[in-house]
Order: sequence, then C-alpha cells, then structure tokens
Amino acid sequence: MAPMCGIAGYIGPRKAVDVVFDQLKRLEYRGYDSAGIAYLNGDSTIHVLKRAGKLTELGKLLEDGSPDSGLAIAHSRWATHGAPTDLNAHPHFDQFGDIALIHNGIIENYLEVKAELMAEGHVFRSETDTEVAAHLIGREHASGLTLEESVRRAVRRLRGAFAFVVLSRREPEKFVAARNASPLIVGLGEGESMVASDVPALLPYTRKVVIIEDDRVAMLTRDGVVVTDLEGRPAPYEPMTIDWDVEAAEKGGYEHFMLKEIHEQPLVVRQCLAGRLDEAGRVRLEQVFSDHVWQEIDRVNIIACGTAYHAGLLGKYLLEMMLRLPTDVFYSSEFRYGDPLLSDRSLAVFISQSGETADSLAALRLCKSRRIRTLGIVNVVGSSIARECDRVLFTQAGPEISVASTKAYVAQSLVLQLLALYIAQVREMPGIRVGELVQDLREFESRMDRCLILEPQVQELAERFVGAPLVFFLGRNADAHVAREAALKLKEVAYVPTQESPAGELKHGPLALIEPGTLAVFGATDPEVREKLASNIREVQARGGFVLAVTTDDDTSLDGVSEAVIKVPAGRSSYLNALLSVVPLQMFAYHVARLRGCEIDQPRNLAKSVTVE
Ligand code: AGP
Repeated sequence: MAPMCGIAGYIGPRKAVDVVFDQLKRLEYRGYDSAGIAYLNGDSTIHVLKRAGKLTELGKLLEDGSPDSGLAIAHSRWATHGAPTDLNAHPHFDQFGDIALIHNGIIENYLEVKAELMAEGHVFRSETDTEVAAHLIGREHASGLTLEESVRRAVRRLRGAFAFVVLSRREPEKFVAARNASPLIVGLGEGESMVASDVPALLPYTRKVVIIEDDRVAMLTRDGVVVTDLEGRPAPYEPMTIDWDVEAAEKGGYEHFMLKEIHEQPLVVRQCLAGRLDEAGRVRLEQVFSDHVWQEIDRVNIIACGTAYHAGLLGKYLLEMMLRLPTDVFYSSEFRYGDPLLSDRSLAVFISQSGETADSLAALRLCKSRRIRTLGIVNVVGSSIARECDRVLFTQAGPEISVASTKAYVAQSLVLQLLALYIAQVREMPGIRVGELVQDLREFESRMDRCLILEPQVQELAERFVGAPLVFFLGRNADAHVAREAALKLKEVAYVPTQESPAGELKHGPLALIEPGTLAVFGATDPEVREKLASNIREVQARGGFVLAVTTDDDTSLDGVSEAVIKVPAGRSSYLNALLSVVPLQMFAYHVARLRGCEIDQPRNLAKSVTVE
C-alpha cells in the first residue's frame, strides 16, 4: 500500500543509477520514508540498494561513486501502512530473483493472490502487497513469457489503484511499466527512455513525455517506447512537450498545491477506501480492536484540532445518528486542561493529518495515562500519534503539502464512515443497511469527480465576492459542521472574516451582522431540514443579504429562491451529501484567496503542523 510515492526508471547511455537517484530527489517534495534502487550492470544478477529513512541514507551508498549501469529503476515509498523499514522498502523481487519491481498505489486483492502463490511454494519476505505483484509477474516470466506479456497477465489479475515498473535480468535491453490509476509518465530522449510518477523527475532529461493511460503497459528501450493495452494490442499515444518550469511541475501544473490537492480528491477517495470494502458489501478494517471491545464501548471521545476537529464533528453526527453511540468532540487544547470525564468503556479517537500536533499528542498521552483505549485516524505513517495510539486507521490521502487541509479532511470523514459501518457490522445492528451504505461509498469517487466541474461557477462567485468584508457559513445537522470547515478555509487562505453557525441560531444574535450585500452561504444538502432552512434564507434576504445555497442536484426547491445555487451530485446518504458539498466551498476559498493575491500554500501566521502548544 503506497499511494503517491516516487517512481523512476531509466535506460540509455547515461549512468542509470545516477539518473534515477536524481529523479527520486526531484520527487522529494512528495514525502517518503524509505527508498531503493535496482539496476543491471551486465552480469547476470539484479543489484539492489535500499534504505529506510531520508534519501540521504540511500545516497550514502553511492558516495564512493555509482556503479556502471545502463538500466535502473528506483522508488521512494510514502508508506500508508507497514512500518518504513529496509525490508518493506521497494524494489521487491520475485521468487526466482529474475525480476525487480517497484510499485505506487494499492493492490486490493493481494491477499488472495498471495495465498495462491504460497500454495505453489512461493516464499515471501515482506508483508507488502508489492511483493505479491513481483511474484505473480515472476511466475509468468519464468514460464517463458516476455517481460511485457508477464506484466500484462499479472495486471489483468490484480485489482486496485497502482503503477508498476519492472526490470528483468533475462531481458536487459528493456524495462516495463504498467498503469492502473496511479500516475505514470514516460520521457523520450535521444537513445534513452525513462519513466516517473511525476513530471519534475523527467524535465532535466527531456520535455517530450507520454502520459500513460489506465490499463496500459509500456515497454521502454533505448529506441523509445511501445504501448499496448492489457491484451497486447498496440495502443496509440500522443507525445506532448512540457513547457512547465520545475516548480510548476511539482504542482502537477496547478498554480498551488491547494488546488492540486482539491483536484486529487477523487483519487484520494479511491485510495482511502481501497481494500476496505469487500465483495460481500461489508467493511474490512485492518488491525482494529477485537469485536468484544466494539461491543462494550459506550462512549466515544473524538479529540483533534482545526480541520481534523471539523471532521470529528461529522463523526459525532454519524456515530450518534447511525449507531446511537454517545460521542463528544473536543479541541485537543481544551481536552487536556479540562479534566475530562473518562470511563474505561470509552474510546478516545485522535484525528490528525500530520500525526504531530502537540496538543493532540499531549491529549493522547493523557488518555493513555488513564488507561483509556486510543484509536488514531492519521495520514502520516510513522508519526508520533500513529505510533502511540493503541490502534490506527490511516487515511491514505498521500502527502498533503498545502497548509490548508482539503483532501485529508475528506479522507478523515470517510474513515469515520468506515468506522461507523464497521461497528454496526460487529454489533449486527438490524436497522442499518450496511450493504447500501457501502455501495454509496463505492459511488463516492465518481460523485467527487463530477464536483470538480463546478469550478467555473465557483470562480464566478469568487470574482463577485472577492472583496466581501464578512461571509456567513450556515447549515443544519451535518451541513452545519461542513459550514465550519468551509469557513476555516476562507479564513486561513483568503484572510476573510467569517461567521459560521447552525442556521437556526441566526436570529439569536448573528443576524445583527447581516447588511445589504452580505454573502451568506447555506449548506442545504439535507432534505429533512431544507424547509426550515428556507425560512432562514428568507431572514437573510429580508435584510438585503445575498444567499448562495449549496444543495444536491435532485433539489429544485431553492431555484429562484436563493440568489445563487451550486448543486453537487446527490446520493442516498445525508452524511456523504454534506461531505461532498465541501468541495465547491474549498474551491471558493481558493479562488477568493487567489484573486486577493494571498500566499495560498503558506498562509501568514500558520504552519502545516502545529508541533508547539
Ligand atoms: C487546517 O486547514 C489547518 N491547517 C489546521 O487547522 C489543521 O487542521 C490543524 O492544525 C490540525 O492539524 P493535524 O490534522 O495535522 O493534527
């Protein structure tokens, strides 16, 4: 499981090991915790260098000069689970030492394939899904198939979101790459070819690239690349010339990491759910507490800061509405000094993207000192909170660079949904249609993808309200919690003052702030409370306010009622509908900030991880 890693491969007249090591360095911004290189140098073995830790550790192995080699592949691993160790670092070998493989992404059905291979006598050295792919390809290759045909057969067997790069000591004049969802780009040079998971690694060597599509296999030689589909039929491709500079390339061509990470969210949904929804429509969570613990827990305390706290509010909504499980949400900084009521049948859940937030870590240690069970919902593997919680569920959102959290919030909220469904399964709760809710999760990626096309409409609204002195964010139930997250985004990247509250609270005070022209954003995705919301909308309009409603595309009740309406793709679950509505509001905050000329990825006064109290 390794989404968003660095992948590199080279064949040609240069010193291949130097090239791929340099390529890894150019992918360093993506975060990693171990790295490795495999290369051929004319003898009949595959040589491998790999180290846990920073790239400099791997670099130490090259200090006395790099080996002569015209073919090498390399990988920097951003672990999603499985400790970052030499053993888990890529490349991985097949059973016979014929091939070396590196992998980016997640193979969902690796356990069933692993069992089949073990039954045939294959012996595995690591716990990774990657090694299973290496053995599967190696088995086909050992039967006499070419490397590219072996890769095609293996890819047809595997499910998930992944990209592979493979070399064989038996076919040293080529290497092969395959893509199924995780990014893979080929670079074409004079007498040389290369591959990487992102453009910056190619630019020093060539600007002529081929974006490899899903379900495609590329065979790279010094003369160029041959691309086929999974059946071996030639697949046409159109080389393109990249005119980005390196910095633009690290953002995937987006102007800021924040926008890139907003647009990554469909892939993040897929990675977050991968391997956690089984064929029988049930949720599968790795290494969480045993069933009797989930039976006896009678209270959940969610503890977090900022955006993670807002995800926690959605978690409370879910655990209480769905499971009737009493849940409280605390700001970490408040929790630790508030002498909280804790019982031995309570569960403390720590949500944290970085896993290093000082207040959350201190609150975690307080709970552990009281012998309270702790569960982490964390993005960075190997982080303090991930290591110190009794159990941890990784959000698998990949590195989040922008200070303003977007994709991590969505991933945290999805993990909370998975957790709620898992508890419902364990408790065999009759009224909960787990299968239906799992199906809703399966459809969420495509609904998220369709949200991205709302951007032009959002940009127009951002242009209209770029000068707003104050913006309201309102909603009811889950929409009220999303409103708080949307408000935080606008505050932290565009420095716009906001007033966020449940819509029903307006007349208890905040309404006094409404003036002619004030923008009020209403989250209106929940049909159960939409009528009530309409009266709140009229309260704002009666005082000259401008209402932007964010609702679902099966709702027409607000057309012509509010001055502007944004519609996200509707689904059955009010929780997921509300979560989806954050996407246009993330974009709104981004575009207002861009128009105001703000330093979006590093807002003033803020840090990505608040490791001080
Ligand atoms: C969110 O956009 C902010 N960057 C900030 O509120 C952040 O969510 C908070 O500091 C918590 O960080 P963590 O998730 O890494 O613990």
